[in-house]
Amino acid sequence: MDQSENKPANPRPAQGVQTIGDIIEARLSRRGFLGGMAATSGLLAAGCVTTQTPGIAQTSADQTFSFEEITRGLDETHHVPAGYQTDLVIRWGDPLFDDSPAFDPDNQSEAAQLKQFGYNNDYLGFVPLPEDADGKPRGLLCANHEYVSSLLMQPGVANGYPATMTREKCLIEMAAHGGSVVEIKLTESGWQPVTGSPFNRRITAHDTPMEVTGPAAGSPRLQTTEDPTGRKVAGTMNNCAGGITPWGTWLMAEENFNGNFLGELPEGHPEAENHARYGVPSGWYQWGRHFDRYNVSKEPHEPNRFGWVVEVDPMDPNSTPKKRTALGRFKHEGAESVVAPSGQVVLYMGDDQRFDYVYKFVTAGRYDPDNADANRDLLDEGTLYVARFDEDGVVEWMPLTFGEGLLNPEHGFASQADVLIETRRAADLLGATPMDRPEDVEPDARTGKVWVMLTNNNRRTEDEIDAANPRANNEHGHIIEITEPNGDFTATQSRWDILVRCGDPKVAEIGATWNPLTSDQGWYGSPDNCALDPSGRLWVATDGNDDTGAADGVWAMETTGERRGTSKAFFRAPIGAEVCGPRFTEDGRTLFVAVQHPGDGDGATFESPTTRWPDFKDGVPPRPSVLAIRKADGGPVGA
Ligand code: FEO
Ligand code: CA
Ligand code: CA
Repeated sequence: MDQSENKPANPRPAQGVQTIGDIIEARLSRRGFLGGMAATSGLLAAGCVTTQTPGIAQTSADQTFSFEEITRGLDETHHVPAGYQTDLVIRWGDPLFDDSPAFDPDNQSEAAQLKQFGYNNDYLGFVPLPEDADGKPRGLLCANHEYVSSLLMQPGVANGYPATMTREKCLIEMAAHGGSVVEIKLTESGWQPVTGSPFNRRITAHDTPMEVTGPAAGSPRLQTTEDPTGRKVAGTMNNCAGGITPWGTWLMAEENFNGNFLGELPEGHPEAENHARYGVPSGWYQWGRHFDRYNVSKEPHEPNRFGWVVEVDPMDPNSTPKKRTALGRFKHEGAESVVAPSGQVVLYMGDDQRFDYVYKFVTAGRYDPDNADANRDLLDEGTLYVARFDEDGVVEWMPLTFGEGLLNPEHGFASQADVLIETRRAADLLGATPMDRPEDVEPDARTGKVWVMLTNNNRRTEDEIDAANPRANNEHGHIIEITEPNGDFTATQSRWDILVRCGDPKVAEIGATWNPLTSDQGWYGSPDNCALDPSGRLWVATDGNDDTGAADGVWAMETTGERRGTSKAFFRAPIGAEVCGPRFTEDGRTLFVAVQHPGDGDGATFESPTTRWPDFKDGVPPRPSVLAIRKADGGPVGA
C-alpha cells in the first residue's frame, strides 16, 4: 500500500492430517536436492538451508529468462506472455466455509465478510500439503488482507464521506482486514479454493484473539482498558508483506497502523513523541468515531499494540496468533527468513516510510528441523539490528539492545520493552541510514545475497543524498544487493552494492542504470515486493509504476554475469492495481500474484471504478484477487 497503507472457531483438521512438523520434516527430507546442491554450493555444504526448494535446473549459465516479453501499457485487465495462462484463484468476497454466504456487494455485512476472503490481498505464502488421493498438488495459501479501499469497497460511501462510514460499515472494514488461510488445489480448471476445508480460516482486525510475546509483553505501555495485562490484543491490521518460516508458520507484518487511529492525545501525554514518530493518528479510517480503542484521546496505548510481526500456525485454525515483539515495532513491510550456517534464523525486514530503515533479527536459539517444539518460540529471543550503509560499501548492523550505546534511561529507555516499542527512535539514536522506503527484503540461502527493494522517495533533497540513496527526488526507487560474508547471515558487517536505479533509461536526468540489454518494455519504477524462484532468480513486483504511464506488474531480473541489471516484463496488472505477493510453488511451475486495489484512481468509487476487473459485470465492483500464472505446456515459469 502506498500510504507512506472472527471468525467463530473453525473445526480442527481431521485426525490423521499431517502436522507442521510432518510437513517440514517431509520437505527437508528431500535430501536429494540438498546433496545435489551441496556439490556446487559452499553455503549448503556449510549447513545453510532455505525455505524454497530448488526444483528446476538453471536455464543457462547466465540465468537468461526465455519468455516473450509483454508490452508496456495500461488498460482494464491483466496480461501475461504468449504461452502462459492465468487461473483466477480467489477474489475478495469468495466463500471460505460451507456456510459462507455468496458475495453480494450491495448487501455486505460483517457476518458475511467474516466468512469470505478479505480485501486487498498483499503477501502470499504457500505451505504445501501432501497430494490428494487423485495426485493433484494442494497447499495452504496464506494471504494478508492489508487494508480496504473505503470508497471502492462499499456502496453509498463516497458521497458524503467520512460521515457515511457508519458503525456497521466500519465493522465490515475490520472484518475485511487481516488474513485468510485457504486450502487450494490444482484441478483440471487450474488452482481453485477448497471451500469448507478444515484448514480454512479468517483472521481479522478486531475479533481474532492474539497473544503478545517477547520482551515487550506486559509492558505498562501496552495496557488498555480492554486489556489491563498488556498481553492480549484483539486483531491485527495493515498486514502488508510477510514470510513463511523454515518451520512452516506464517508471518504477517503490520504496516500502516497509524492510519486506523483518530483523536488527539491529552496535553503533555508521555506517548506524544512516540506516536508522532509513527504518524499516529493519521485518521485515514473512521473506526475511531465508533470504537474507543481506535481513538487515542480515549485509549492512548492502543497504537503501541500494533506495528509488530504476527506469527500464525496455518496448520491449526484454532491456534492463537502471536505478536512477536522481539522483532521490533515499525511499519513492517515483510519478514522473510533464512537459516544461517550456525543454525540461527535470520529475518530481514524493511520499515516502509520515506527515510526509515532496514533491519535484521538474529534468533538466539537454533532451528531444529527435527523438533517442531524447539522452534515454536524461536522468535521471542534474539538480537534486532538496524543497518547503516557506509560509503565504502560496508553495511554495519547495529544492535538495538537496551543498555548498549545510547539506549539507556538517560535517553528515555527504561527497558528492552521501551527500545522495541520505540524501535524507530532507538534506530535514530544509533545513526542508522535513512532509506528510500524499504519494502521487501529477500535473503537467498544459496548465494548469501539479500535483495532490498527501495520503492521511491520524492522528498529526498540534494543535501540528503548518500551512497546508498544516491538520487534526490527518487521517484522510481532502486534495488540494493547485500552480500553476507561467506553466507553468514548473522554477520554484523556485510557488503552492499546497487543492482539497479529504476526509471526510464531514455530520460537522462532520471539517472536509471539498467543493463543496456533491457528493452523498452523491460524497465520499471517503484519496486515493492519480490520473490526468488526455485533457481534463485529474482522477480520484482511494483507499486507505483503507473507514475511512468504504464501498469504495475512483475518483472524478471538478471542479477549475475553480463546480463546483470537486465529486466524483462512478465505480468501487467489492471488499471489502479499494484502487484503484491509474488510466490512460486516449490516446483517453479506456478507463480501466484496478488492484485491489490484494482479499479482505484483519482475519483474512483464503488459506483464509478476505473475497471470492474475481474468480473466485468455492471454493478459488481472491482475485486482484489489472487491469480496463478502457469505455462500452458506445464513447464517452469520463466524457463
Ligand atoms: Fe504495504 Fe509498503 O506496502
Ligand atoms: Ca507498496
Ligand atoms: Ca508493499
